Amino acid sequence: MRIPLIAGNWKMNTTVKEAVKLVRDMLDGLDRIEGVEKVLCPPFVFLAEIGGILKSSSIKLCAQNMHFTTKGAYTGEISPLMLKEWCEFVILGHSERRRYFGESDEIVNKKITAALENRLKPIMCVGEKLEENEAGRTEEIIGRQINQGLNNVQPTRNIVIAYEPVWAIGTGKAASGQQAAATIKFIRNTLAKLWSEDAAQDLRILYGGSVTSNNVAEFISQSEIDGALVGGASLRAEEFVNIVNQTAAIKERSLPAEQSKP
Ligand code: PGA
Repeated sequence: MRIPLIAGNWKMNTTVKEAVKLVRDMLDGLDRIEGVEKVLCPPFVFLAEIGGILKSSSIKLCAQNMHFTTKGAYTGEISPLMLKEWCEFVILGHSERRRYFGESDEIVNKKITAALENRLKPIMCVGEKLEENEAGRTEEIIGRQINQGLNNVQPTRNIVIAYEPVWAIGTGKAASGQQAAATIKFIRNTLAKLWSEDAAQDLRILYGGSVTSNNVAEFISQSEIDGALVGGASLRAEEFVNIVNQTAAIKERSLPAEQSKP
């Protein structure tokens, strides 16, 4: 049984004042929702502040990036040791990191390994660009990202994968539920070959890219899709709570009868 997960990636947005207001505005609504793992990913500098507010809630914290060593002369970088005081999760290999900061599959692999060694759960992002999609290379690209990103990583449930087609991020042009489910199925098959069928079945795979309260149901109602990584829509409290609420309702309905009984 894979517990659905919705993560809100705030990216490089909000002042501290806005961050505190945003989290306070969603706190009660989110905290109440059961059956979904709820995760917020604010900028590094607000983790402590937001962590304090979330302390006795059911909402978990996630960082947006991390260096792969624990300490040293890496000006401007943040280490897993620093993050684990506040975070349970860390986003790694987001397409914006790959595109603007030159993160290769090899770097992503080092980061995944370091996160796991430090008991942080990576949300590892994979996804193809528009031209790769149009050239019919989606499986080749994603297969490489998965195989190289998880090279020498032992099977574990502590990784979450997010399939985020680059052409769908921040564009308002989400994939269709069926498209996303088909690629996620491919990701699970790739994991089954790399690890084992059981290990692949245990792992949660999310969809990300222009998810809103208007389209989340389309993704979540696919049994292959275990949740969403939400960017822009996670910056609006009511909208984000709505997305998590819909996820809880849809996934509960799809449970086998005996498991959904109280
Ligand atoms: P978006 O971003 O929801 O704004 O498209 C998703 C992401 O980059 O994780």
